[in-house]
Amino acid sequence: MAAVRRAWYVAAESRELGDKPLAATLLGQPLVLFRDGGRQASALLDRCAHRNVPLSLGEVTSGQLQCGYHGWRYDGSGICRHIPGLCGESEGPARRVPSFPCKESQGYVWVWMDPDVEPDVEPWSLPELSPRYTRVRKTVMFPGSVHATLENALDVPHTAFLHKGYFRGSGASHELEVVVRRYGDRVEAQYIGEPRPSGLAGLLLAPGGGIVEHYDRFFLPSVGQVEYRLGERSHFLVTSICTPVTDFETRVYAEVAFRLPFPGWLVRPFIQPLALRIFEQDRVMLQAQTEHIERFGGEQFVSTEIDVLGGAIWRLLRAAERGEVQESDELEERRLKLRT
Ligand code: FES
Repeated sequence: MAAVRRAWYVAAESRELGDKPLAATLLGQPLVLFRDGGRQASALLDRCAHRNVPLSLGEVTSGQLQCGYHGWRYDGSGICRHIPGLCGESEGPARRVPSFPCKESQGYVWVWMDPDVEPDVEPWSLPELSPRYTRVRKTVMFPGSVHATLENALDVPHTAFLHKGYFRGSGASHELEVVVRRYGDRVEAQYIGEPRPSGLAGLLLAPGGGIVEHYDRFFLPSVGQVEYRLGERSHFLVTSICTPVTDFETRVYAEVAFRLPFPGWLVRPFIQPLALRIFEQDRVMLQAQTEHIERFGGEQFVSTEIDVLGGAIWRLLRAAERGEVQESDELEERRLKLRT
């Protein structure tokens, strides 16, 4: 598994974090989120320094997180500010709980998974889009590693089989040219000459048919993005912000943003059930893949060149894990053929 710790991950949607503490697990680490006196989101290790019970069982009092067992109270930086019944000073290094940098942006609570340090980058930003776009958000849990989940989100060949009828697999086949561009911290595949994909999703994407512009992108540490455009008339952008919960569980904060030649409210009722159906097919397959990898004691993958982005995503994750990644201009471009 690749575990990139020096990175921002979404721990929750902002609307989930109210007046009560909220438990969240990232990279196998139990965390507790709460809002301090200034309503700022904070993240601490979910373990009371006193007797190790989960702080998420407590409550927020006067902007501090109060443990539910003996009432020790912590501020947003993890310093113990109050111990009920203790006549002396409550603070002390041993009584502190590790705190994780925490920020809110774009409706999400982001946590930097290296505690007690100052992050050197900002959380990933969703693209700015005009108000003409309709945005639909959904959070889905996938029983797979972050690599398997991202590869699945950006993999074209499986769509004609697993999602047949919904997305590809039901029309004539076509040979496409694929251009793969690799950068220091991301990788992109451009599909050239792709007719509108068959199936219900393709029909929503481009009701009048035509040749679509199609890009699949991966951004470190854990964002997948699929973009379809048909001239100025139709544009779909599906962004999957992935949070590694454990080695084999990934929470996906997905956003579908689209602009079509007709009002978004007309299409919106169809987008969500269709996306959920496709997510469910992927979820079932990832569950089976994960169970078999565990049963056989590890991964043993064989790839071909039409597994377009999986290998590049893996190499970027491993490089980021070792701290060897930096932004760069294009490092490499390669071309290949794919039949859809
Ligand atoms: Fe938290 Fe005692 S275990 S105050």
